[in-house]
Formats: sequence, structure tokens, C-alpha cells
Amino acid sequence: MPTPEDGGDDSPSHRRRIVLLVGLMLAITTLHYAIPTATHAQHQLHIAARKLYFLPVGVAAAWFGLRGSIRATAVMSTMLALHALLRWPSDTMERANQLAEFVTLWIVGAVVGLLFDRERGLLDEIAKAHAAAVTGLVAALDLREHDTGTHSLRVRAYTLLLSRRLGLDAARREAVGLGALLHDVGKIAVPDGILLKSGPLTSAEQAVMREHPAAGYRILCRVGIPAEAAECVLTHHERYDGRGYPQGLSGDAIPVGARIFAVVDAYDALTSVRPYRGAVSHAEAVSTIRAGAGTQFDPRVVAAMMDLGEAAIRRTRRQAESELPT
Ligand SMILES: [Fe+2]
Repeated sequence: MPTPEDGGDDSPSHRRRIVLLVGLMLAITTLHYAIPTATHAQHQLHIAARKLYFLPVGVAAAWFGLRGSIRATAVMSTMLALHALLRWPSDTMERANQLAEFVTLWIVGAVVGLLFDRERGLLDEIAKAHAAAVTGLVAALDLREHDTGTHSLRVRAYTLLLSRRLGLDAARREAVGLGALLHDVGKIAVPDGILLKSGPLTSAEQAVMREHPAAGYRILCRVGIPAEAAECVLTHHERYDGRGYPQGLSGDAIPVGARIFAVVDAYDALTSVRPYRGAVSHAEAVSTIRAGAGTQFDPRVVAAMMDLGEAAIRRTRRQAESELPT
């Protein structure tokens, strides 16, 4: 179900398109009604203006699918019929001509609307198949390192929730959510002996481990993922105070998606069971994160996280875990 921010029925972009479409319909009908038919040249121009009636029907189909094209056709065909009645009250041939145009307008409106609806349906199916493939991949990667395959799904869900709270638009939320989902994809290049080692890593092993953000970035750039998502992957281990890696970025030089991710990843780590400790409570996790504001974490992101509330986070966690492919 589209939300207002996603371009749903109440979104600014939806309303803007309706205004543009109504303006286009008004301009075309005004032009058509205003051009006289006294001379042959004027009549040719008049007919050309009438052909423009198909334009808003096509635009409505592209923007709003079959429902939009039928509505635009209803408006334009009514204006066409009115014009025929007013302008050609007793000309049977001209009325037949106008009737043929009327019928053609409806056929075009229905066919073009159906085609755009079908295209949208196919694109939705492709998007769902793509999402299922990516979700399956990250769940498999999570299982290699964690007991369950839901860590990446949870951090994506938390990132989406927090990015909405911080006012990111729908396209950016989608990109940073994808970055959160794929944050550790570069760990595919880390050998099991290092990734799954129970004791402390040697400095050489740490160096290998620290390669995973750049490795993930390179993988994702090759598959054409949105740049903002790939940048989140590259910078997901940066710290607000500049003591992170791989580039040692600090403050707002760290992409906002990575600053959001840092907070939600810490929250997820704290509130999930680990082999060496149990899960801490929401209150304890929040307290730990608050203590890291301004050093490990962006204070604005921490403040937004505090505002979310435990109930919303719990709900988001349950929804995320239900997405795991079976
Ligand atoms: Fe990582």
C-alpha cells in the first residue's frame, strides 16, 4: 500500500501530477474550442487541436494506470461530445466523424491504461523476486556468523524506522535500508578461521577483517546498486569521532545512512543473545547508546532513536523477523 511519502494518493507529487493533468486538459479543450473553422487552414488546425485530446489520456495512463486513463477519457470525451453538439448541431457527417473520434478515444484510453497497469504489475513482480533473492543472500550470510539469519533484516527495519523519524525522503530511506541490509556482504571475503574465531584477533587478522566494508562496496558497485546504499556499506564501521575505519571519517562527513546504521547495529547487538552473554533490556541498550553519543554515534541520530520508543522498535523487530525466507 503506497504511503503519502512514497507517492501514494495524498503525496505532493501525486497532487502535482493531478494539477498538471487538469491544466493540460483545460489548455487542450480551450484551444480546440477557440480555433475557428471558417477557412480550410483554420479547420485543419482545429482538427489538429482535437487530436491532442489523446495526450492527457496517455499521460494519465502513464502516471495513474487504467483508473487514471478512464477518468481522463471520461473528461475528454465529454468535452468532445459537448463540442460536437454545440458546434455541429445539424451536420450528420460531422457528428459521425466526431462519434468515431469519441469511440477511438475510449478504446485508446482503455488499452493504454491496461498496458501501463500490466507493466506496473510485471515491474512489481521483478522487484519482489529481486528483494527475495537479496533477502535470501543476506540471511545465508547472517547464518554463517550468527545463530539466526535475521540480524541484517532487523537492522534494515530499524534503519528504515529511524530514517523516517529523521525526515529522509522515500528514495533515500530505501537506499539506506538497502545499505543496512547488505552492510556485511563483504564478509564473504573473510575466511572462516578469522570470521568465526572465538578468541581475540591478531593484528594481521584484524587487518583482514577491516577489509570487509571496502570488499562489500566493490561487490555492490559491480552489480549497480544505488550509490547511497553502497556508500553506507563502505562507511558502516566509521565512528562519529573519526576513530572508525576504513577512512577515519568523522561527523557529517560520514553518510547519514551509515550514522543511522551505527546506532541501530549497536542496539541490535545489545538486544540480541550472544554466545557469551544474554540480551540486554531496551532500557540498558538505550543507556549504552546514549553514553556513546558524540563519540561513537551522531547525537542527532541517538536523540531520534530515543524518541522511537520501545513498543515501535519491538513491533519493527517482529515484522523484520517474519520476513525471513522459509
Ligand atoms: Fe561490518
